[in-house]
This record gives sequence, C-alpha cells and structure tokens, in this order.
Amino acid sequence: MPKSPAVLLAFAILMLVGGYLWYGLTKPNDDVDLNALVKRQSQRESLREIEGLIGGLSINQIDELARQGRGQSLPSTLISRPMPDTNTWFVGRERHDVGVEIPFKPGHVPTSPPDLDPIHQNPGFLGAQACRECHESIYQSFIQTAHHRTSRKATPDNIAGSFETPDNELFTRDPEVWFEMIRRDQKSFQRVRFFDWMFEVPIDITVGSNLLGESYLYWHGDKLYQLHASYLTESDVWANSPGYVDGDAVFSRGIHTACLECHATYIDARQDDEHFTPGSLILGVSCERCHGPGKDHVDFHKANPTSDQGYQITVPSNLTRDQQMQVCGQCHTGVKPLLDPLGFKFRPGDRLEDHYELTASSSGANGVHTSNQMERLSQSRCFTETSMACVDCHNPHQNDRGRLDVFSKRCLECHEVSHCGAADRVGEGIEGNCIDCHMPRRATENMSIETASGDVFPPLRDHYIRVDDEATSEFLKTR
Ligand code: HEC
Ligand code: HEC
Ligand code: HEC
Ligand code: HEC
Ligand code: HEC
Ligand code: HEC
Ligand code: HEC
Repeated sequence: MPKSPAVLLAFAILMLVGGYLWYGLTKPNDDVDLNALVKRQSQRESLREIEGLIGGLSINQIDELARQGRGQSLPSTLISRPMPDTNTWFVGRERHDVGVEIPFKPGHVPTSPPDLDPIHQNPGFLGAQACRECHESIYQSFIQTAHHRTSRKATPDNIAGSFETPDNELFTRDPEVWFEMIRRDQKSFQRVRFFDWMFEVPIDITVGSNLLGESYLYWHGDKLYQLHASYLTESDVWANSPGYVDGDAVFSRGIHTACLECHATYIDARQDDEHFTPGSLILGVSCERCHGPGKDHVDFHKANPTSDQGYQITVPSNLTRDQQMQVCGQCHTGVKPLLDPLGFKFRPGDRLEDHYELTASSSGANGVHTSNQMERLSQSRCFTETSMACVDCHNPHQNDRGRLDVFSKRCLECHEVSHCGAADRVGEGIEGNCIDCHMPRRATENMSIETASGDVFPPLRDHYIRVDDEATSEFLKTR
C-alpha cells in the first residue's frame, strides 16, 4: 500500500482511470456466485446502525441542505484536487486507495439542465407517441418492447432497484465507502458516504429494459453523466456499473452521442459529442430508427386522411437482406466510432460503413459491450445458406423475451425435429426448446461488473447457431 499522500493520490487516480475501462479486461472467475454479493451485503448490515453525525452534521441537516440545492462541504480530513484536463474533481483520503471523482466542485451539487434552443434542426424524429393515433395496435404492443423501454425518465416506477433499507445499499470493499439509494419529494438520488462526508447525485434517466439490468444518467448543465451504481436484474441488487472499480465513487463518466445513438431515438449534440440540448432528447429506441424519421409521413397523412398508401416511410422488409441487417446493425454490431460525432445520420437503406468506423473488433468474438448478434449470426450456416434476417426470428413490434417455444417454432420453419441428431436423446418436448443447445446463453467476457466479492459477467445468447457439445451436456443434465 503506498504511504505518502502524493503517491497515494497518484495511485488513487490510477484506480479511477482503470474505472473508465467500461469493458473489463479481466477473465471470468470460474464460479463467481451472483448471490455471494447479496450475502456480502447482509453481513454489512450492522454498518447502518453506526450512523451518528457525519462530518458534524446529522442526516436531517444534510437532507435540509440538499432541499436547498446545496451540498455538504468537504471535511478537512479529505484531500481534494481539481483535474483541469477532464474538468473534474478528485477526492481521496490519506492511506486509502479509494477515491471520488465528480464533475462538480466538492460541496456543490450538479446544475439542472438549461433550457437551450437546439443548434441543429431535428431531421424529423418524433418518437413513438406520434404514431399512436393511426397505428394504435402496433403502438400498444411496441411500448412493451426492450427497444421502447431502453431509456426513459427515471420516475419511481422506472427504477427496478430497491429504495427500502437495507436493499437500497451498496457496500464496497472499503467499510468507509458505501452508496445508498434514496427518494425525496418523488425524486431519486444516489447518496455516497465517503468517510465523514456525504454527497448525492440525482437519477434522471434510466437506461436498460432489465434484460441484464439498468444504468442511470444525470444532467449536469448541458452534459449527461453516468451514475456509479447500476442495478442487476438476475441477482436483484445494486452493483458497481460495468467496468467501475469497487471502492471508488465515480460520477464523472461523461455520456457521448454514441451511447444515446444506441439507447435513444434522437438528441441534438451541440458543438461536440458530449454537450447536448436537453429538451431535444427523445427517449427510447422508437419506430423511426428502423423506419426513418416520421415527420413527413405524419404531416402527409394528417393532411390526407383518406390516403391508404404509406407516404415517405421505409419498411425494412422492402430492402435487400443486407440492408435490413444493417438497420439492426446500427446498434447490434458492438460499439464502433461514429464518423460524424454528432450522430443520428443513419437512415434505413444506408450502409454502415458510411456512418461508422468498422474495425476489426467486429470480428465475431463476443464483441465489446454487446454480444454483436449480427456478426455472430453471419457465421451460421442457417444464415449463409438461406436469406434469413433478424426479423425471421424477432418480431420488431412485440416483446417475445423468454418465449423459447416461440423462437423454436422459427427453427422449425426450416428444420424438422428429425434433422436434429440429438432428437432421440432429448425425447418428448424437444420442439419447445431448440435454443439452449444451439444458441446457449454465455457470459460476455467483455462486459464485467466488479463487486465486493468478485467479477460478474452477464450472460447473453450466442447468435452463432451451431452444434455445441458443452451446451448440450449442460442441457441434458437439467432433464
Ligand atoms: C395520421 C395518420 C398516421 C400517422 C400519425 C402515422 N402513420 Fe404510418 N401510415 C399511415 C397510413 C394511412 C399508412 C398506409 C396504410 C397502412 O399501411 O397502414 C401508413 C403506413 C405506414 C407504414 C407502412 C408503409 C408501407 O409502405 O407499407 C409504416 C412503416 C408507417 N406507417 C410508420 C409510421 C410511423 C413510424 C409513424 C410515427 C412516426 C407513423 N407511421 C405515423 C398513417 C399514419
Ligand atoms: C437504435 C439502436 C437499435 C436499432 C436500430 C435496433 N436495436 Fe435492437 N436493441 C437496441 C438496444 C439498445 C437493445 C437493448 C435494450 C435493453 O434491453 O435495454 C436492443 C435489444 C434488442 C433485442 C432484445 C429484446 C429483449 O427482449 O431483450 C432484440 C431481439 C433486438 N434488439 C432486435 C433488433 C432487431 C431485429 C433490429 C432491426 C430490425 C434492431 N434490434 C434494431 C438497439 C437497437
Ligand atoms: C427494431 C426495428 C423496428 C421498430 C423499432 C419498429 N418497426 Fe415497424 N417494422 C419493422 C420491420 C423490420 C418491418 C417489416 C416486418 C416484417 O417483414 O415482418 C416493420 C413493419 C411495419 C409496418 C408495416 C407492416 C405491418 O406490420 O403492418 C408498420 C405499419 C410499422 N412497422 C409501424 C411501426 C410503428 C408504428 C412502430 C413504432 C410504434 C414500429 N413500426 C417500430 C421494424 C421496426
Ligand atoms: C453500439 C450500440 C451500443 C452502445 C454504443 C451502447 N450500448 Fe448499451 N446495449 C446495446 C445493446 C444492443 C444491448 C443489449 C445487450 C446486447 O445485445 O449486448 C445493450 C445493453 C445495455 C444495458 C443492459 C440493458 C438491459 O436491458 O439489461 C445497459 C444498462 C446499457 N446497455 C447501457 C449503456 C450505456 C450507459 C452506454 C453508453 C455509455 C451504452 N450502453 C452504449 C447497445 C449499445
Ligand atoms: C431460414 C431457414 C433456417 C432457420 C430459420 C434456421 N435454420 Fe438452421 N440451418 C438452415 C440451413 C439451410 C442449414 C444448413 C443445412 C442443414 O444443416 O440443414 C442450417 C444448419 C443448422 C445447423 C447445423 C450447423 C452446422 O454448422 O452444421 C444447426 C445446429 C441449426 N441449423 C439449428 C437451427 C436452430 C436451433 C434454429 C432456430 C434457432 C435454426 N437452425 C433456424 C436453415 C435455417
Ligand atoms: C440437448 C441439446 C439439443 C437440443 C434440445 C436440440 N438439439 Fe439439435 N443438435 C444437438 C446435437 C448435439 C447435434 C449434433 C448431433 C450429432 O451430430 O450427432 C444437433 C444437430 C442438429 C442439427 C444439425 C444436423 C446436421 O448435422 O446438419 C440441426 C439442424 C438441429 N440440431 C436442429 C435442432 C432443432 C430444430 C431443435 C429443436 C426442435 C434442436 N436441434 C434441439 C443438440 C440439440
Ligand atoms: C434463428 C433465430 C434468431 C435470429 C435469426 C436472430 N435471433 Fe436474436 N435471439 C434469438 C433467440 C432464441 C434469443 C433469446 C431470446 C430469449 O431468451 O428471450 C435472441 C435474443 C436476442 C437479443 C437479446 C439478448 C440476448 O442475448 O438474450 C438480441 C439483442 C438479439 N437477439 C438480436 C438479434 C439481432 C440483431 C439479430 C440479427 C442480426 C438476431 N437477433 C437474429 C434468436 C434469433
């Protein structure tokens, strides 16, 4: 452990920079038990008893400060340094290799988003609500999907994690650093206890439809930042966001256009890819990211209510297979740099390479952050020997999550049960689940979540459809 404050500070900053590697570089521990995390939390329960005064203030006084839009000032026991390069502040403590990194001055609170006029004209994105009056049934079904729900206002019913003690707490390897999720006046916050200091950050936007979990964003001026704590669906706990170092409290990871390009419909990026016009944000991946901006279509049909020919709108199934794949590929080929950093330029029919820098990382390994379904599927014989596209299995307007029987029916549109060499071994009911053997859920090594008790790797379906001996023997064990 480093000793002098300067070395310590350098060390702590190094740890924080490590936290920026959103994609963990470590290999999975063989048997990390998600539930070990929960156990670890309950062992720490007794910590809550030792509240008392924090830096000389009671919790009620800290709450009162927050209501007035103020933060608790930094106690003299902590070290704070501005980091001008990134416009952030670091807070640490002597002889502790943990630290805080925030984009606002310690003792202050984030600035509410300003009411700015857009810099660029919205190319015609309206959001799903605008389609409702004429496409009611598609709309009703669509709003249940992961696409629609993937980003939304973080109202209390849009945050899956608990706000009830003790489940609202996230402890770390350092007993003096922990997180608490709180609600005040219908607003949600992540509150950080860092030695004898407390600060909090609002939860403004929820990202993720809870396949794996949810992450959260907050506004500070015209910038968006990710909050430190995310929620994990499978183990139903709060956890460090993927790639964040356990023990740190990092609220300075700025959100760039690329993130919203995949998880929202539209936002006006101002002079660069991290300053936004707050009012321009259209949450959720709406109809228009697959069909193209809808303004002209809506204007036309409102003015011509008797026309029954869809005007100025693209139906992906009228495109070539390659083009259809690229519509989904905007967001399902892993993370890739935008050629125009302001984003939102891709239109159905376009080629990916005209908008993204496609690198060798889309090589077919489980991609970064996403499991890169497009690349994986493209290696399958089901794909190379047919004209199959994503929508052969996925109805884009419907939530079929978990319905393995529905997906298996899709297989049986081309295969027969008797084609499967394992049919006899599996026996009755095989037609209800072709998936677990041929498209197993596998931990994505490129997305790791550090917890107080080890790394967690969320599992995703491998879209390389093939015979997989390991998956087969695992499946047969469960029968
Ligand atoms: C004022 C009514 C109206 C609104 C609002 C509207 N549409 Fe349509 N849309 C129509 C009509 C009429 C058709 C043609 C009949 C049909 O296919 O249902 C159509 C057809 C379509 C088609 C199929 C086109 C084709 O060539 O087969 C798509 C896709 C579509 N609309 C998408 C959208 C989207 C996305 C929105 C929201 C941004 C939207 N529509 C809003 C009236 C509307
Ligand atoms: C603008 C980006 C974007 C486009 C375009 C897009 N997707 Fe997605 N898709 C996402 C994101 C982000 C998620 C993860 C949502 C979540 O769980 O929060 C997702 C999730 C999904 C899921 C998982 C559903 C579930 O139940 O969890 C399927 C299936 C899917 N997309 C298929 C498609 C197909 C097929 C296309 C093309 C027709 C497509 N997507 C186009 C961004 C996109
Ligand atoms: C993830 C991409 C995606 C999203 C999001 C999406 N669609 Fe579609 N939509 C498609 C595809 C692909 C087809 C062609 C369907 C096929 O071939 O099975 C289609 C077909 C259609 C059609 C014409 C055929 C039909 O099914 O009636 C309409 C109308 C339509 N979509 C409207 C909408 C509306 C309205 C929304 C939002 C409420 C929406 N879509 C969201 C991909 C999408
Ligand atoms: C290239 C597109 C892309 C980018 C960029 C991207 N994501 Fe995702 N994200 C996805 C897709 C697709 C999924 C669904 C899981 C999968 O297929 O890997 C997903 C899954 C997630 C999930 C889990 C959703 C769930 O339902 O469990 C969260 C949370 C998330 N992303 C947050 C973010 C944040 C925050 C950023 C930016 C800092 C970001 N993502 C950047 C495409 C993207
Ligand atoms: C659009 C038609 C189509 C669909 C849908 C389809 N396949 Fe295939 N699949 C094929 C073709 C064609 C081949 C190559 C010839 C063969 O082995 O029958 C193939 C090959 C395979 C193979 C052998 C792979 C290899 O490398 O030898 C497996 C396993 C398989 N499919 C399983 C599935 C499963 C499971 C599903 C559903 C999740 C599915 N397929 C959906 C058409 C399809
Ligand atoms: C218990 C796991 C398991 C299940 C469930 C299963 N398969 Fe298989 N499948 C296998 C194995 C193992 C093989 C290779 C058998 C061999 O070569 O002896 C195989 C082979 C295949 C092949 C390739 C035949 C060839 O050699 O080209 C196809 C196609 C296939 N399965 C389709 C399906 C479909 C469709 C379903 C659902 C109705 C299904 N499988 C369910 C394990 C499974
Ligand atoms: C042969 C059928 C098939 C095709 C084709 C297919 N998928 Fe899937 N996909 C599945 C199945 C099965 C699942 C698992 C569904 C579940 O567990 O709820 C899945 C799950 C997903 C998920 C959710 C993440 C996960 O791992 O559970 C996403 C995202 C997705 N698919 C995207 C795509 C995209 C994009 C394409 C086209 C490049 C595509 N899929 C093509 C069968 C298919």
